[in-house]
Amino acid sequence: NAVIGVAVLGLGNVGSEVVRIIRENAADLESRIGAPLVLRGIAVRRIDGDRGVPEGLLTTDADSLVARPDVDLVVEVIGGIEVPRKLILAALNSGKSVVTANKALLAEYTGELAEAAEKENADLYFEAAVAGAIPVIRPLTQSLAGDRVNKVAGIVNGTTNFILSAMDETGADYSDTLAEAGRLGYAEADPTADVEGFDAAAKAAILASIAFHTRVTAGDVYREGISKITSGDLEAAKSLGCTVKLLSICERVVAEDGTERVSARVYPSLVPLDHPLASVNGAFNAVVVEAENAGRLMFYGQGAGGAPTASAVMGDVVMAARNKVNGGRGPRESSYAALAIAPIGEI
Ligand code: HSE
Repeated sequence: NAVIGVAVLGLGNVGSEVVRIIRENAADLESRIGAPLVLRGIAVRRIDGDRGVPEGLLTTDADSLVARPDVDLVVEVIGGIEVPRKLILAALNSGKSVVTANKALLAEYTGELAEAAEKENADLYFEAAVAGAIPVIRPLTQSLAGDRVNKVAGIVNGTTNFILSAMDETGADYSDTLAEAGRLGYAEADPTADVEGFDAAAKAAILASIAFHTRVTAGDVYREGISKITSGDLEAAKSLGCTVKLLSICERVVAEDGTERVSARVYPSLVPLDHPLASVNGAFNAVVVEAENAGRLMFYGQGAGGAPTASAVMGDVVMAARNKVNGGRGPRESSYAALAIAPIGEI
């Protein structure tokens, strides 16, 4: 390809940063890819006001944008499930590369999307879907591809970690701290997905699926949120030499009958103060991976926010674009075993 045509679907926090990086870092990106990235269009819900991009790039017709023959690579940062699912399938079915940050979609449809990518020999990358800027998907799918991962556990929701850290530090109660998180722009207008653990459960489903080469969906993940945690719980934790963190835990377990299963669970957990996850505070995320030969690895950084998430998106864009230039393809989905989910009582 002489140039790589890119369509960006969505111009929210992450989409705007992706567009900014594509425009500001054009020369660097071209030298890493071997061809220039050319923005063919940006799909938005409404064209109104100054969006900080040339108006000619904006369109409300995402379907036509994805179908354009001069679009090679589609970046999906719209959110939601059904609309992006159809757009991503349309792109993959015509052999285009797709980069998405959409954890809710992937937690339900990784299987379907991966099969479409496999069929068309297309790239599907989603580093940004779990823990924002922190590389976790690539280490699991590539760096550790020759190892055997037994456990992935960590803090993958920034909003709840901000709330729990602030409650621990100030002794404030849950509702005041949630309101503060809203004022600072961490919690969403409707914070249910964060505080009730749905966001963390979607990320656990993605991590478990790729770490153990199986299919886990968000509904398979045992889930408890943090909305019932009180300042008294944090006091009690402190007196035990612990703090409370909302952990997403994915591990291989051997059931009583000797079969191997996957356990995927999200709940507020007591974490001893000398454990590395105890010092992950504020809106930061961290993921600990345990592999048979590598031992224990820890990944730490900014798990949310426009620019950090766009950084992960752009890493995927460069890889997918380079593959288009070289005629290569990213890591294939390895054959996967359908591992049963271990009920919470079995752990
Ligand atoms: N609401 C999410 C969080 C954003 O707080 O971590 C990143 O997925």
